[in-house]
Amino acid sequence: MKKIIINGGVKLSGIVDIDGSKNSIVALIPASILCRDRVRIYNYPKISDVLVLCDILKELNVSVLLTDNYIEIDSSNIKYTSLINEKMEKLRASYYFMGVLLALFNEVEITYPGGCNFGPRPIDLHLEGFKALNCEVRGENDILFIKSPKLIGNRIKLDFASVGATINLMFASIFIEGYTIIENAAKEPEIVDIAHFLNKMGAKIEGAGSESIKITGVKRLKGTEHTVIPDRIEAGTYLLIASAIGEEIELRNVYPSHLHTVLKTLEVIGVNIIKEKYSLLVNKVDKIFPINITTAVYPGFPTDLQQIITSLMTQAEGTSFITEKIYSSRFRNCEELIKMGANIIIKHPTAIINGPTPLKGTIVEASDLRGGASLILAGLIAENQTIINKAEHIFRGYGNIINKLTNIGAKLSVEES
Ligand code: EPZ
Repeated sequence: MKKIIINGGVKLSGIVDIDGSKNSIVALIPASILCRDRVRIYNYPKISDVLVLCDILKELNVSVLLTDNYIEIDSSNIKYTSLINEKMEKLRASYYFMGVLLALFNEVEITYPGGCNFGPRPIDLHLEGFKALNCEVRGENDILFIKSPKLIGNRIKLDFASVGATINLMFASIFIEGYTIIENAAKEPEIVDIAHFLNKMGAKIEGAGSESIKITGVKRLKGTEHTVIPDRIEAGTYLLIASAIGEEIELRNVYPSHLHTVLKTLEVIGVNIIKEKYSLLVNKVDKIFPINITTAVYPGFPTDLQQIITSLMTQAEGTSFITEKIYSSRFRNCEELIKMGANIIIKHPTAIINGPTPLKGTIVEASDLRGGASLILAGLIAENQTIINKAEHIFRGYGNIINKLTNIGAKLSVEES
């Protein structure tokens, strides 16, 4: 178990380099074995989810080389095996091996995926989609058995624009004769990044980024190289930190277009941001205005920044309303913020935040990845010391966060607890 200790109240200034996208890399790593060849992925984030996924690859007799600049994955000698172990429960993205192994072997046996605990994390849309591709699906005590005599293309309309289901069904359809269409597909930039990677390996995917994606089956794929797009959620996290406690902070290696709604929201809050092609400069904020926002699928306000902007809104002059429409209960971090002095009332699905309230450091607990990041922001704002227990949640999705914050003047450290 790890804990982060923060001595807050220090104004931050300097440069933060944004990593490659976590929600891309956790799909790119499973996708890379579809080619049964060698792949190199540059600009990958140094996060623990990457290590877990590379560990799972080795069970499939896939060789993995992790260097500072790239991951090299060679699946020339891939061997089918069932993926039934506790590694699969360490992260939700392990479910991408369902689509990949169905495409490669027409079958998969896998432990139900894990991941952040904010409400139920069903995968019914994935499984309904696999059934539509002529798969039988059976579940027995947390293990899924999915099999098909022959995958058959289909037109699949998702009840909800699920990111994971969209990606998983792209994977499963990659070699199916004829074509498959996914309607009401998710439009996140990570979907476009993954489709771009697959097409570089020789796949035929059209429409990624729109609500309708067409996958025309190909016989096989070949190795390629790819550079992961910047992580818009990591960038959004540092934008919110800069808005709360920054003097002048520059974010580099970002795609401002992926943050359109977040930047619009920050304008309403009163944050002055200078946009360049691949960087964002945030100047000191004098007054923080309250907001009324609702999370939505891309390009709406991202649910993954909902918990973090809640911490910022504890400093707004007035009452903010933050409504969570993607998950059923993604407010557990509010209990910890209230312990630090925040004035938040939850009226599901809305958090009502009355500000500004001074925040006082104390011992808090990270309940999930982004909830943990919201506590880091609160700890940076609070005048005295904050201790965040279960900080390993945070290291799943934020590479080098201690160094990145220390380099801009924050006083924080990590210890075993
Ligand atoms: C991806 O999760 C991200 N994770 C999440 O980021 C992100 O919050 C989410 O997309 C929404 O943007 C990864 O990419 C690894 P969904 P995913 O399928 O694919 C319901 C983070 O902090 N649903 O779009 O699981 C589901 O319960 C993580 O980086 C079903 O009901 O998200 C949720 O309410 C957290 N049935 C909603 O849809 C299904 O079969 C969104 O889920 C699938 C999803």
